[in-house]
Amino acid sequence: MRGDTKSGKRNTELGIRNTESEERKTENVMMSGEMVLNPKIRIENVSYAYNGVLALKDITLDVPACAITVFLGPAGGGKTTLLRLINRLNDLVENTQMRGRILLDGQDIYAPEVDVPSLRRRVGMVFALPLPLPGTIRENVLYGPKLAGIKERTRLEEILVRSLQQAALWDEVKDRLDDPANRLSGGQQQRLCIARSLALEPEVLLLDEPTSGLDPISTAKVEESLYQLKRSYTIVLVPHSVQQAARVADYAAFFLMGELVEHQPGKALFTAPRDKRTEDYVTGRFG
Ligand SMILES: Nc1ncnc2c1ncn2[C@@H]1O[C@H](COP(=O)(O)OP(=O)(O)OP(=O)(O)O)[C@@H](O)[C@H]1O
Ligand SMILES: [Mg+2]
Repeated sequence: MRGDTKSGKRNTELGIRNTESEERKTENVMMSGEMVLNPKIRIENVSYAYNGVLALKDITLDVPACAITVFLGPAGGGKTTLLRLINRLNDLVENTQMRGRILLDGQDIYAPEVDVPSLRRRVGMVFALPLPLPGTIRENVLYGPKLAGIKERTRLEEILVRSLQQAALWDEVKDRLDDPANRLSGGQQQRLCIARSLALEPEVLLLDEPTSGLDPISTAKVEESLYQLKRSYTIVLVPHSVQQAARVADYAAFFLMGELVEHQPGKALFTAPRDKRTEDYVTGRFG
């Protein structure tokens, strides 16, 4: 499908010359040290257009395992689009064109032999607005595993406890697992949605502004659970503020109008940005 989706457009029509992107790629490696050995996810010269308008322009970026990578930047920069491409949520969006590759453990996730439901089990996604399913807390967490064919009660019980603990929700709900999920607070519902993703034991967790509607205490709890989770998961997070980005980022990538302006490990992007546009953004000069 790459570069040749519903509209039948070809890569070349996106107007990016190969030579240019190859040069940029080499430059990236040398300039920023951002390329890592055996990344969990490798985004390679990805350009993406909706109706012929580029939303992502030649993005090359490595996402290391067992760390939190944040995608930050002003509205419309392409952050959500890139997250959605990582678990192929945009497959059904009409009239889009993609070029470049996205590799998970070295394998092209857009290769024809890839089974999309299995990919989505490996790469979970949590959205800004938590949307629990109708039903109880228990049913919400166990919906995915049951659908995946797990029947044994003790195994399901293990998954339930582990997922809720990992999402830092267990203590608050352990005595009311059979209550309707919609009785939980917004912050609890958000963590329930994280627990629901974790129940499927994904390898990668994509979180798009997961705390945007939450109060500071619930936000702190979600962030605390992310610190625990990154020991064993690869996390990509679109933060709801620069402050949150600075708190949680092990790696930070700044997107502006479809361009990856800067990508740095640790807190460098916040304390010593290389690009004036990054500096303006992280110091609050525009947003
Ligand atoms: N389904 C769609 N159809 C057409 N254009 C789209 C679609 N989704 C996104 N876009 C466009 O792609 C660009 C990038 O949008 P995207 O949602 O990825 O940005 P974002 O960085 O996540 O922004 P925000 O911070 O507001 O969430 C925008 O110009 C947007 O209008
Ligand atoms: Mg977005």
